[in-house]
Amino acid sequence: MDRRKFIRLTGGGIIVAAAAASAGCTQHMPAAAIEPWQGPGQESDVRRWILGYAILAPHSHNLQSWLVDLRRPDEILLRCDLARLLPEADPFSRQIMMSHGTFLELLDIAARERGLRADISLFPEGPFGPSTLDQRPVARIRLVADPTLAKDPLFAQILHRRTNRSAYDAARPVPPDAWAAMTESVKPHSLRFGFAGLDQSDLLRRHRAIAAAAWRIELTTPRVIMETYKVLRVGATEIEQHRDGLFVLDRIPVLMSKIGLFDRSQPPAPDDYATTSQIKDFNAKLEATPGFLWMVSEGNDRVTQINAGRAYLRVQLAATAAGIALQPLSQALQEYPEQAQPYAEIRSLLGATQANRTVQMWARAGFAPPVGPAPRRGVDAQLIRA
Ligand SMILES: Cc1cc2nc3c(=O)[nH]c(=O)nc-3n(C[C@H](O)[C@H](O)[C@H](O)COP(=O)(O)O)c2cc1C
Repeated sequence: MDRRKFIRLTGGGIIVAAAAASAGCTQHMPAAAIEPWQGPGQESDVRRWILGYAILAPHSHNLQSWLVDLRRPDEILLRCDLARLLPEADPFSRQIMMSHGTFLELLDIAARERGLRADISLFPEGPFGPSTLDQRPVARIRLVADPTLAKDPLFAQILHRRTNRSAYDAARPVPPDAWAAMTESVKPHSLRFGFAGLDQSDLLRRHRAIAAAAWRIELTTPRVIMETYKVLRVGATEIEQHRDGLFVLDRIPVLMSKIGLFDRSQPPAPDDYATTSQIKDFNAKLEATPGFLWMVSEGNDRVTQINAGRAYLRVQLAATAAGIALQPLSQALQEYPEQAQPYAEIRSLLGATQANRTVQMWARAGFAPPVGPAPRRGVDAQLIRA
């Protein structure tokens, strides 16, 4: 048994998933868990066809907190599944709202593909307050036939989009036309989009330092790591059973989990090799990252958060079209108290110190080997039936 590797992998979390993606001797992703990535196929109800694309949206921790009500004809009602939140890492559910924005943007793009305008009414019974979500709908969507509507070329990228946690090619810059395409893609939404590339080495160094510090805090804050462990699916059987969350397919942690040695019931200690080696691994990835991008909003109300998610989805599809891999770096943007220092530093670095400005998204960007799709539960699992 390779003890070093075992200990490293027991650290769990997102880095484990990243290691698994590139490690070689992995189990196979169960076909059923990624079947939705084939696209919706024939559907007699166009709403189900559209939803077949919307459920492929990126969602923090892949929680898929979208609850969809199709019981009224010609209408889609979107609610949030309040059992699928991240109260420790995302105490005000800002990222959950962004993850509804990504869903709505895909829904909008897919509707256009069918010549339908999605009239999206956000928070039709009033917006959620700043700290908690509730049972009221996030959006009511009516689909209206509109022959004048242009199709969105980003539609072609939906099935190819991935969050890529691999090491990026340190020597290959994100080309100017790719940055330009990402900048252009955000335009429908009023957020400030920025980026830094290999030609700004001092700036990259500062990005890397803040991301590394924030990651260290995430790994050494027990309740936050435990929240990740709760949605970490280890091995094909768990993945197929849940079809959500973060996943590990690497043979060694899967084996260790089977024999009860991959303990997800308690966090690793800060000085455990489990923690220190993950910090080292992620630092190496940051060092090799040739670009960072960010999105800053004026205001941070619920509509702004939804629109930030919509904008990020567009950026990621534009990046996909240009062959650029992205991985969000949410840790420093998170509002739990232990992140106060990196939170202040990233705001300062990105010109967002004014109280009304919020860094909604920060991500690393670059060329990377392709990765497979993440599990999805499928349209039926998202429907409200009662
Ligand atoms: C608001 C938001 C924040 C996210 N933050 C992170 C992050 O900090 N690190 C990361 O690796 N992925 C992050 N992700 C990506 C999700 O984990 C990913 O979308 C999910 O696991 C599904 O994988 P997919 O995007 O490949 O479909 C984030 C996604 C969203 C929408």
